Amino acid sequence: MPQPAADPGLPAPTRRAALPRRAFLALGGSTALAAALAACTPGGPGASGSPAITPTPNPSGWVPPGEPMAFPRGYVWGAATSAYQVEGSTAVDGRGPSVWDTFAARYGTVKHGDTGEPAADQYRRYPEDIVLMSDLGLGAYRFSVAWPRIQPTGSGPANPAGLDHYRKLVDALVDAGIRPMITLFHWDLPQALQDVGGWTTRDTAARFADYAAILFDALGDVEADWMTVNEPKTHAFVGHWYGGHAPGLRDPDLAAAAVHHQLLAHGLATEAFRASGAAGRIGIGLNLLPAYSIDPANTRGAERVDASENRLFLDPVLLGSYPDDALGQAPGQLPADPTAFAALALPGDLEVISAPMDFLAIQYYGITGVDTVGNVVPIAPTSDASWQQVRAEGLYDLLIRLRDDYPAIPIVITENGIPDETSAVTVDDPYRVEFLRTHFQQAARAIGDGVPLEGHYVWSLLDNFEWAEGYDQRWGIVAVDFETQERTAKRSAGFFSDVIAANAVPPA
Ligand code: FCB
Repeated sequence: MPQPAADPGLPAPTRRAALPRRAFLALGGSTALAAALAACTPGGPGASGSPAITPTPNPSGWVPPGEPMAFPRGYVWGAATSAYQVEGSTAVDGRGPSVWDTFAARYGTVKHGDTGEPAADQYRRYPEDIVLMSDLGLGAYRFSVAWPRIQPTGSGPANPAGLDHYRKLVDALVDAGIRPMITLFHWDLPQALQDVGGWTTRDTAARFADYAAILFDALGDVEADWMTVNEPKTHAFVGHWYGGHAPGLRDPDLAAAAVHHQLLAHGLATEAFRASGAAGRIGIGLNLLPAYSIDPANTRGAERVDASENRLFLDPVLLGSYPDDALGQAPGQLPADPTAFAALALPGDLEVISAPMDFLAIQYYGITGVDTVGNVVPIAPTSDASWQQVRAEGLYDLLIRLRDDYPAIPIVITENGIPDETSAVTVDDPYRVEFLRTHFQQAARAIGDGVPLEGHYVWSLLDNFEWAEGYDQRWGIVAVDFETQERTAKRSAGFFSDVIAANAVPPA
């Protein structure tokens, strides 16, 4: 896997730009893109030849200091997971089926036919995992609640066994001095709701608010952070447009509807949170993608990519309006009908969606280049996840952009990580140490430049079920042997633990 240090020479990032993820090779049938990407993939045709763009290290000229970079007192260090990816036990205690159970059971959707069983068996092993977290010194743990454990068919009364499980998990975390961050929706919609349209229908947003209210009532006494929706973009685009994730649809207009209804769900849940008087704080988790035009003199293509990847989510939540260039038929846009999309937003919706949040959660994996037409192009080394162009400085650029373009709000990085270079159990992951070190440095740099960044969660605590990649792609700082469920800390876990203990990131 290429090291993040090998950065391309880039013009300053455009404020208006970005890249589809995961299934993006399939996007738009772009052979040129596929070939260019292959050239950037380790072992691909261009691996030892000339890359698409000549990389020059260190585009901005910023050099990390030779001594440790300290973080503010109280900075939150955490690790993240999600229910379907780690829990297993998908058919116990009254849990209903989710869209991911249905999708993974379909032939050809997930590598090797893998499913959410056994995952990392955390439904049963959470006490052991909390000991692990304590050993690492984590201040916070981000997990998600499986909606179909709480409401097996997506509506109606709560399932006591489901609530009981999360009550025990939360209590055990609090007892261990670890702050829970509770994600309400991380893509595992109850199948019964999908059967009546899922996120393509408005009613699902109302169902979500009911579900959220059940949890605020059950767990609202806990000083926790709540994330309403995890990456609405990925669920809408990959699940409803590219067909690479559950529910496996391939229709940009349905994807656009899934965008609006997830954002509405976020707003309604935020209102329900305030009404409940629950302790703690609430926000949304957006995966953002700095996009850089490969031609500084022409950024129009990059602006469209930025619109569909970033502003389509940031603007409604933070400004109460949708951008006017995110949808359309030009390359880089979500190719849905803008008029039909506008008609989905009923009077008052944008006020609900922009209900004040306590923090903005951002998830950062990398950047994209964009040509003048609006096609995404590789300009940085990719990891073993083909959609991930690694560039630590992109995190700094993104944080500065949020500082400059949006109203001030506390920011938390709730996912940041890189997969192993092998699908085998490994504990030797120098590339992950390098990834974390360089990204922590850019976070510290941004804090020094006035960004109100309050915490940093690594994706992921454990190797787990990586969606369409199944168990082949390992993102944990702790290795999991899925045969035995044995956990072993990787080298990166030791590095992270030292960072947490020092509340500072050391130089290389
Ligand atoms: C994020 C998802 C998370 C995991 C990482 C690698 O987009 O939120 O579940 O798949 O990517």
